[in-house]
Amino acid sequence: MKQGFTVWLTGLSGAGKSTIAERLGPELTARGRNVEVLDGDEVRTHLSKGLGFSREDRDINIGRISFVASLLVKHDAAVITAAISPYARARAEARKRIGENQFVEVYVRCSLKELTRRDVKGLYAKAIAGEIEHFTGVSDPYEAPDNPDVVVDSETESVEESVGKILAELERRGHVPAGVKAAV
Ligand code: ADX
Repeated sequence: MKQGFTVWLTGLSGAGKSTIAERLGPELTARGRNVEVLDGDEVRTHLSKGLGFSREDRDINIGRISFVASLLVKHDAAVITAAISPYARARAEARKRIGENQFVEVYVRCSLKELTRRDVKGLYAKAIAGEIEHFTGVSDPYEAPDNPDVVVDSETESVEESVGKILAELERRGHVPAGVKAAV
């Protein structure tokens, strides 16, 4: 029986976590896995409805995501999470709960300069103007992983390249078979 695992994407808002999750999911399905994506924005409309962006609320949010991920992993699912998860301690707790070999931390890197230029949701402009308090990367901390399992860079890499790096790490760990042709 294939073991479950969680690809834990962490990075600033707009860095490309959801895009990578959307592209990685079908690749894992093509490799015979049952896939579930826990996306920050979606989780916050259901499981974490009503939570804000204080450290306490973010920790609760991440705790809920890691709890659900751990349940799914127990049933051998391939889970992809896509929340900023700005605090190293909360990510370390997620790793502990899900299991060392089951937890793949992926740092989705992108500079603030590029995020401000893209500003897909228009939130960076508002945060810089002081209209949103505690905005990650502008007026709230983001603790980049010290020792991530994979680093992808949405400023310099294509989504395909980023997904390829993650698949390589999953293959290395024996979570997915090597050399399966891309489905997308
Ligand atoms: S986390 O910090 O708890 O992991 P999460 O990924 O769920 O954050 O939610 C982040 C999303 O909420 C962002 O992509 C953005 O659309 C929205 N958002 C609204 N206010 C903030 C804020 N103050 N800081 C960061 N993101 C915010």
